[in-house]
Amino acid sequence: MGHIIINNLCKEYIDRRRVSRKPDGSRQAGTAIPVLDNVNLEFFDGELVCILGPSGCGKSTMLNIVAGFSEPTSGNVLINDKQITGPSADNIFVFQQNGLLPWMTVWQNVELGLRHIQDIEEKHEKIQEHIDMVGLENFERHYPYQLSGGMKRRAELARALVVNPDVLIMDEPFTGLDFLTHMKMREEVVNMHHLFGKSILIVTHDIDDALIMGDRVVVMSDRPAKVELNQKIEFSHPRSFVKQLGLRRLREDTFLMLGVSHAV
Ligand SMILES: Nc1ncnc2c1ncn2[C@@H]1O[C@H](COP(=O)(O)OP(=O)(O)OP(=O)(O)O)[C@@H](O)[C@H]1O
Ligand SMILES: [Mg+2]
Repeated sequence: MGHIIINNLCKEYIDRRRVSRKPDGSRQAGTAIPVLDNVNLEFFDGELVCILGPSGCGKSTMLNIVAGFSEPTSGNVLINDKQITGPSADNIFVFQQNGLLPWMTVWQNVELGLRHIQDIEEKHEKIQEHIDMVGLENFERHYPYQLSGGMKRRAELARALVVNPDVLIMDEPFTGLDFLTHMKMREEVVNMHHLFGKSILIVTHDIDDALIMGDRVVVMSDRPAKVELNQKIEFSHPRSFVKQLGLRRLREDTFLMLGVSHAV
């Protein structure tokens, strides 16, 4: 289960280098920088949600609060009706670039997510299944430095999925990949989402990624971020901007919303 409710979420950072004035005119050290401004969202179990917004608006801040790494200034986040008060390895997994341990092989890195399973046979089956799924069969004994950038990202994906989390959080997961690997990883994330039905939150700068992958797309405004758009996307997969006219229109609208007048 991965039902997420974000309630009246506000976050301010204090910039201690700046001095501000209190209402009575006296000086105080530090100025509050509002980043999230009363964000309310609900994501349903098994949705793949893509979050877009201008750089610096507060997307990573919001994901960090959902993951329990950072506390909100006010408001709260509920996952499966339980308020998030800190990181939880049980039901949330944060996909990280360079998240593989360099001194462990692909096999050992994936195995890390299954420490709780005692039955060796069951454990080995699961590890192999996930390694095969991301196309890394025959690379089980390789160390991260022996893999290409795209292969590393695949191993990271296997490492994330083997944990079988209720919620998978990915902050710009395709950054730095070449065009073809990017397209293939995107396809794999969609396929795996259909296979496993996990709730996935992805922050991306790429409007096409969001519209091709998402069951729902959220567009945030400039900082302090508010929700500008929260829309379910019901076009069938595989999606195409050429064949699905409605999707193409939504793409143009989203470009406009993010301040680009000509969708490229
Ligand atoms: N720990 C922190 N202390 C102070 N300010 C912070 C901190 N983390 C983030 N900020 C500020 O909060 C704002 C939002 O940052 P955040 O990283 O959430 O943006 P973002 O939407 O993820 O941006 P990008 O798309 O560039 O990754 C930025 O102005 C940033 O400078
Ligand atoms: Mg960010």
